[in-house]
Amino acid sequence: MEPEENIKLHAIMIPVPLQGHIVPFINLAIKLASKGLTITIVNTQQIHQRLMKAQSISDGTLDYDIFSEARKSGLDIQYTTISDGFPLNFDRAGNHDQYMEGLFHVFSAHVDDLVGNLVNSNHNPPVSCLIADTFYVWPSEIAKKYNLVNISFWTEPALAFTSYYHMDLLRINGHFGSQDYREDMIHYIPGVDAIEPGDLPSYLQDPEPWGIMHRYIFKSLEDARKADVIICNTVQELESSTISALQEIKPFYALGPIFPNGFTKSIPTNLWRESDTVPWLNSKPKGSVMYISFGSLANITRQDTLEMAHGLLLSIVSFIWVVRPDNTWNLLPSRFEDDVKDRGLVVPWCSQIDVISHPAIGGFLTHCGWNSVLESIWYKVPMLCFPILTDQFTNRKLVVSEWKVGFDLCSGRILRQQEIAQKIDCFMTEADKLRINLEETRKKLEYTLSKNGSSGSNYKQLIIDLKSRIL
Ligand code: UDX
Repeated sequence: MEPEENIKLHAIMIPVPLQGHIVPFINLAIKLASKGLTITIVNTQQIHQRLMKAQSISDGTLDYDIFSEARKSGLDIQYTTISDGFPLNFDRAGNHDQYMEGLFHVFSAHVDDLVGNLVNSNHNPPVSCLIADTFYVWPSEIAKKYNLVNISFWTEPALAFTSYYHMDLLRINGHFGSQDYREDMIHYIPGVDAIEPGDLPSYLQDPEPWGIMHRYIFKSLEDARKADVIICNTVQELESSTISALQEIKPFYALGPIFPNGFTKSIPTNLWRESDTVPWLNSKPKGSVMYISFGSLANITRQDTLEMAHGLLLSIVSFIWVVRPDNTWNLLPSRFEDDVKDRGLVVPWCSQIDVISHPAIGGFLTHCGWNSVLESIWYKVPMLCFPILTDQFTNRKLVVSEWKVGFDLCSGRILRQQEIAQKIDCFMTEADKLRINLEETRKKLEYTLSKNGSSGSNYKQLIIDLKSRIL
């Protein structure tokens, strides 16, 4: 028996407190636990309270264990919550900069306490690894202090990671960080054929990258350089040259697509209460409905909301539009829902998986959040793309230019109602052109998850690698 076979890994997992990060973290926790790891996963108390309220489990009790069902099925997953440093009722969105500063300085102290307590708790197996979101600024310091293997989890595609990783190269070549930056194609990022500056993550497109978000993100990416291992929710078969180039620099494991499995159904992951869309969808013909969602983070402007609403009124296509209650809901034209009648359904949130897996869905007008992109490919739903911020521009490039499983909603970043109506109407008839590519791309996802696919063998390699690091 190899010495590693006696070692049992115990990882603490800490997602960034955002919907698009909690989902892949929870799915990964289940996956790693089903491969024999002991997992302690941590949410902030505020996120936990929102999960509870959205699911009507309670009015915010902190002691409900979201993994109790998974544990009954034999998975070794512990769940705990910590304060992010702000009172539960603090308006985080309304005090964004103060909140970001807090995540910089105060939250790390809470994490430090928690990790210290867990490390010293005589838990069997002892804590050996830290799997923190790459968007945190503190993992290397905490991993070093407690002698843990530092695993940085990048929840976006490898192309977005490598763009940030080579930020200095972009700077030296004048494609980033100056007022008069170059607008020609970028040919020098290792493993990336060519990329337009407009396809970089939005934070790398800003001529004045000095805001708090820039500072925060750039510092976190700097910290990721010190990680022992990077794991990523992407697919080797879809981003092979980018991944190979990254593997030259660091151990980099593509573990995607990290989807829910049987156990995950019992775990609350939604931060908003889901509306039941299925009865409405059941009444619609096959492939006739456009699903519209801009995810959990991005806000479209008041003007864009109005253009979208009027565009949908002009279009003849049926639609479900997710309009989150926290931003644009009250910006809809006053008679909008009366005017669209039964052709449209506006909901504050839904189970996206239930919607896009429904046969009535024929297209997805998406902001290109990475989870949405992977889910849309899996359910073979063609995409109409309108990226708004962060990696969404980079993801759009993969969807539209590389894999050809989506079209652009508009040529620039300005929405006009007539163009929206015309694009949506055309899209629903022309989407068939994308289906052959969708079929092929979905097959790559199926293959990567199969016995001989890269995702499965990457998990095996990762576990061997981690065990060798704690020997
Ligand atoms: C954010 C960033 O916007 C995105 O670019 C980055 O890749 C991840 O973090 P978000 O806006 O939340 O993500 O989008 P996305 O990555 O698509 O994740 C949203 C998740 O919420 C998906 O898993 C989706 O299925 C789910 N969802 C979304 C719902 O269940 N219901 C909804 O109504 C909308």
